[in-house]
Amino acid sequence: MLVEEKNALTEEIELMIKKLGKKRSALLSILHGIQMKHRHVSEYAQQEIARLLDIHPVEVFSVLSFYAFLNATPKGRNLVRICRTISCDMKGKDIIVRAIERELNMKIGHTTSDNKFTVEYVNCLGLCDEGPAMAINDQVFTKLTPEKAVKLLSKVK
Ligand code: FES
Repeated sequence: MLVEEKNALTEEIELMIKKLGKKRSALLSILHGIQMKHRHVSEYAQQEIARLLDIHPVEVFSVLSFYAFLNATPKGRNLVRICRTISCDMKGKDIIVRAIERELNMKIGHTTSDNKFTVEYVNCLGLCDEGPAMAINDQVFTKLTPEKAVKLLSKVK
């Protein structure tokens, strides 16, 4: 990361703290703001947030790693999350995963070479009676079949 990029990121965090207050409760909002703008919260950003909020970096990382919508590494432009919890598992999430892996020529847990999709598992999406379920970015889709899952991806492509 270039020095100018680091300085810009620090300024961004300083601005957020100015707006939200230098308090622990601002941490999640700051992480969310950085995630929205940069699609991840880099190690440098984590360190700066900790320094500027005067908290330990481990605390920042533990919040970051707790929430599925926050990432420490850059993801693809579209995030596909497939529910792996028991109801969706029993309703055939594995065949959905295989269809998506074939379609995108990649393995779950990775990002496509063109950086367009990251596909990963997630725990319950809250629609257990309508599984198998997956989310593409902020939209959740249910009662998936392999064909339906592939069609949904092609709409994003
Ligand atoms: S088990 Fe898949 S949405 Fe709850």
